[in-house]
Amino acid sequence: MSRRYVFNLCVICASSMFLLPAWSAAPQKIVEIATVDDLVAEINSKVDFLNQQLVNADSFAKAQEKKEINQAAGVIACMAQAIVEHPDAAKANFKAADLRDAAVALRPAKSFDEAAKLVVALKEAHSGKSAGTAKPDAEWNKLTGMGRMMEEINSRSSTIRRGLRRLQKPEETARDCTTLAVLALAMEIDTHEVHDKDQLPLWKELSVKYRTEMTAMAKAVRAKDITKATEHFTAANEACNKCHEQIRDKGK
Ligand code: HEC
Repeated sequence: MSRRYVFNLCVICASSMFLLPAWSAAPQKIVEIATVDDLVAEINSKVDFLNQQLVNADSFAKAQEKKEINQAAGVIACMAQAIVEHPDAAKANFKAADLRDAAVALRPAKSFDEAAKLVVALKEAHSGKSAGTAKPDAEWNKLTGMGRMMEEINSRSSTIRRGLRRLQKPEETARDCTTLAVLALAMEIDTHEVHDKDQLPLWKELSVKYRTEMTAMAKAVRAKDITKATEHFTAANEACNKCHEQIRDKGK
């Protein structure tokens, strides 16, 4: 076989791999929601948070009471998968799929020793020292848990509400909105809480509404348009209430 032939064959293989739809990809193109810079910044802040919580067994025990390790690792896993699926993934100076797997592995850690060991692997991946062997494909409904995601959405919504009052840190507030929009991708895919299958379209509609409003809100916040940002925030929060009333609390 000529070298030229082998080369062409490789090009064909590589491009056909590119054309194959990644069936497990997020339900919306990440590039329409977030930049890699946003995603990396969010990951950095969660890795810092994990470092603080894992200083010693006491801080771990405290964090564990509120399942904060699981929650932060779930956010990292979603942001990392978003980088994997982002056309500018190369801008991150770590292998995002490795980081995702390390974060997913940390989530269920029960003891301090176990978590301390798993976080070493996570930090290694975060600092770009991992092998890069993890597969790009991931199931969005396996990256975080519904309860943890909701807690993250809840506490971050309060932060956003405070930030919106004077909008002194528009970049930070916009990134909070973007992070929630990315988490809402996992929300749309994770339908296990929908017990009446007739409600699946409503679940999808509300997840999409939430994501769309938070994405639009991030843009309005960056443009420092408080009125518009508030409108999107209100519309997004309607989705919370509607989903809780009509789906989560159905028959209760
Ligand atoms: C598409 C549906 C849907 C949307 C939208 C939604 N939620 Fe939820 N939420 C749920 C479900 C289902 C649960 C129950 C999860 C569980 O118990 O694991 C839940 C649980 C919660 C909880 C309790 C968490 C826990 O520890 O179990 C809080 C707090 C919460 N949601 C806040 C919010 C806020 C705030 C918003 C919007 C900013 C929101 N949710 C949007 C479906 C939704």
